[in-house]
Amino acid sequence: MLARGSKSLPHFVALFLFVLVICVRLWTEKRLIFSDPLGSLSITSPAYSGNLTSSISNTHIEVHSLTTADKRYFHIKFGQHAAINANIIPHPVLNDTWIIVAQLRQITVINIGWNAQLVCDAVFKENVLECVDPPLILPIAATTGENCNGELEVLRRNVGPHDARVFYGPKTPFALWGSNSQHVCFGQWMQDFRNLVNWAYVPGMLTDGFRLATEVQRPLPGPYTAIEKNWFVFWDQNDEMYAHYSVAPKRYFSKLNSNGSAGPDLAPLAAANDDKCIAKHMPVVGHALETIHQASNSLSVTLCRRSDPTCIPSDLNTFIFTIFHWRSFYKLHAVYEPYVMMFQRHAPFAMHAISQKPIWISGRGRVGEAGTLRPRPDEDSEMVYVTSMSWKTQGQKYHGYIDDMLFLGFGIEDRVTGGIDFVVGDILLNMGLCE
Ligand SMILES: *[C@@H]1O[C@H](CO)[C@@H](O)[C@H](O)[C@H]1NC(C)=O
Ligand SMILES: *[C@@H]1O[C@H](CO)[C@@H](O)[C@H](O)[C@H]1NC(C)=O
Ligand SMILES: *[C@@H]1O[C@H](CO)[C@@H](O)[C@H](O)[C@H]1NC(C)=O
Repeated sequence: MLARGSKSLPHFVALFLFVLVICVRLWTEKRLIFSDPLGSLSITSPAYSGNLTSSISNTHIEVHSLTTADKRYFHIKFGQHAAINANIIPHPVLNDTWIIVAQLRQITVINIGWNAQLVCDAVFKENVLECVDPPLILPIAATTGENCNGELEVLRRNVGPHDARVFYGPKTPFALWGSNSQHVCFGQWMQDFRNLVNWAYVPGMLTDGFRLATEVQRPLPGPYTAIEKNWFVFWDQNDEMYAHYSVAPKRYFSKLNSNGSAGPDLAPLAAANDDKCIAKHMPVVGHALETIHQASNSLSVTLCRRSDPTCIPSDLNTFIFTIFHWRSFYKLHAVYEPYVMMFQRHAPFAMHAISQKPIWISGRGRVGEAGTLRPRPDEDSEMVYVTSMSWKTQGQKYHGYIDDMLFLGFGIEDRVTGGIDFVVGDILLNMGLCE
């Protein structure tokens, strides 16, 4: 018994240290909260101005589901498992079927040192997108790294992938996730998704890069930080691949080679345009508890209708878009506001437009509204965290048109997963143009 007990001791120590790190973080943020009069809450955030007596359209662009009876977002169900942060992509061969992926949420034995991503084929049943068979976990191996130091040292013991994003490139699907890094403490890894599930495809035929899990790098010199997350990959008009590391206060992006290495930072070539656009349209970050960070993968869109015979994709009407978040963390409760950023699909990849108002996902709990997942401050709306987007239609990969249907996948209050489907034009019209 004693031997057994002492064997598991290091795990408890690791767990304790991990919790300690988190407590120190929260305490630091809390100090900021106490030093701030709550009166300043409403200064920059649309989240706090939308209440039950004002119209959502005053502060947000509301999107409604094309699938659910009440037009509100739908839940995503992974059998009996709880999950957060959803991804939805069309199934390669089955109609009206999507592959869904999300992070397993531990309920009975909470072990933050072990992580897994659930996956299954899913269909709609009574307004819920749910697994046809019990979900499996993605066969993503743990990675090792010796670069977690100081208060982060405990993260060396992490096992398994964090917060996977699953998305289509122009030809193939990919998974991108966080795991122990060879360059910093926590980095971003990517793999051809066809190697991780039964894709109705012989994986041995894969010859391009990312056949196996490969760490995505960022150029040096640059602000490589100890824990990197929320990177996204994009493809230019010739299907060449790039990695995008930051959207604000400055953009950083570079060419991405198939072995994971990165070319030089390309953002300076677009900075003259981008700096002006950020100053003009980027939502204001007015406090240390407010930040802007990348959220979703990217897709490319032609700003005219698929059904229009004169609508021919070109560099002039086709852009890459992504969703980023304005985030606040007052009263230890995170609130996220999703915005779209559009940029050129050809060098120098200059910013084209930024949403003038954030997206409101129909069904998200409003300030003061009851019936949410768990108690939250009265002054806050529900925490809805967008993780991924994809075209809804079978066979559609990276590119779409303004009248195509889009899926957004998200997590709600770090407790459950949700999704919503709507015509992409709903969020791309009336954006603030850079010029
Ligand atoms: C609701 O919001 C409106 C406009 O933002 C504001 O004038 C009003 O005082 C708010 N009402 C409550 C009950 O907070
Ligand atoms: C899926 O739908 C398309 C278009 O309706 C049809 O051509 C195809 O045969 C269907 N595939 C399957 C596997 O049912
Ligand atoms: C990775 O790919 C780039 C571009 O093809 C090449 O220059 C570099 O040498 C490769 N690195 C390694 C470690 O193979």
